[in-house]
Amino acid sequence: MRRFLTPSDIGDLNQALKEAAEVKKNPYAHQHLGKNKTAVLIFFNSSLRTRLSTQKAATNLGMNVIVLDINKDGWQLETETGVIMDGDKPEHIREAVPVIGQYCDIIGVRSFARFENKEEDYSEKILNQFIELSGRPVISMESATRHPLQAFADLVTIEEHRSDKRPKVVLTWAPHPKALPQAVPNSFVEWMKVADVDLTVTHPKGYELAPEFMEGVHVEYDQKKAFEGADFIYAKSWASFSEYGKVLSTDRSWTVNEEKMALTNNAKFMHCLPVRRNMVVTDGVIESPDSIVIQEAANRVVSAQTVLKRMLESL
Ligand code: CP
Repeated sequence: MRRFLTPSDIGDLNQALKEAAEVKKNPYAHQHLGKNKTAVLIFFNSSLRTRLSTQKAATNLGMNVIVLDINKDGWQLETETGVIMDGDKPEHIREAVPVIGQYCDIIGVRSFARFENKEEDYSEKILNQFIELSGRPVISMESATRHPLQAFADLVTIEEHRSDKRPKVVLTWAPHPKALPQAVPNSFVEWMKVADVDLTVTHPKGYELAPEFMEGVHVEYDQKKAFEGADFIYAKSWASFSEYGKVLSTDRSWTVNEEKMALTNNAKFMHCLPVRRNMVVTDGVIESPDSIVIQEAANRVVSAQTVLKRMLESL
């Protein structure tokens, strides 16, 4: 396994879920795999869960871990090619990445969409340079268009809380004061499409996700109608794709509240966190017994460890 970005990178999903359950049951069973192996985790953006859970996962596997907040601890990187480097960026990404590869066996990268140029973001310019130039297996720890460790953890969490019936899973847009990337909803849709679930996406007009993710996905613009009979409600805010990076609405009639949750089939509430209370979801819903956001965050260790284990096995 040389990269982790999409569900196809992990192969058979049922096998991956089985492996994840084993990893969760016995987290220290594969410490021999990581002996004398090093993971470098590079952050271009802030993190709480991804940083701690991936570090914990690598440690559980016996690895050494180096975490680099590149904006604070490294040289500012030039990412454009062909430029005269007479500005404030002293190092080019095309040297930095192969150098990082010299010091480790596996690389994790977090690099969000910048919302300056849709084509540049959706071509995964930064992540792809790590894949191309590092000489090491690369894990996306949330890139411009995807957050696969989150989506895999979400799927593990749904598997743990579902009944035998094929669950109705609803991804709902929610209001937020800032423009947030589409990586989480893109990956959530991408993973749910290949999982054994019945997926509905609901959002106001103008918040349609990129067509390459949405082919064949049921969209319901009436949020209350979408919630009817749902087994899982997954809330997330994202900025517009068509009017790229713009906040078109902060309409709090889209906030997930108790009244809307009452329309569901006693649905579990999910969110990747961090979440803005009483914008995205009310205090009452996130603190209810049906909220599984903490269990979901806990499964971030499980998804990261399953992926790292696969990569170590294929070194
Ligand atoms: N869900 C998630 O990725 O959280 P962090 O941004 O804190 O890593």
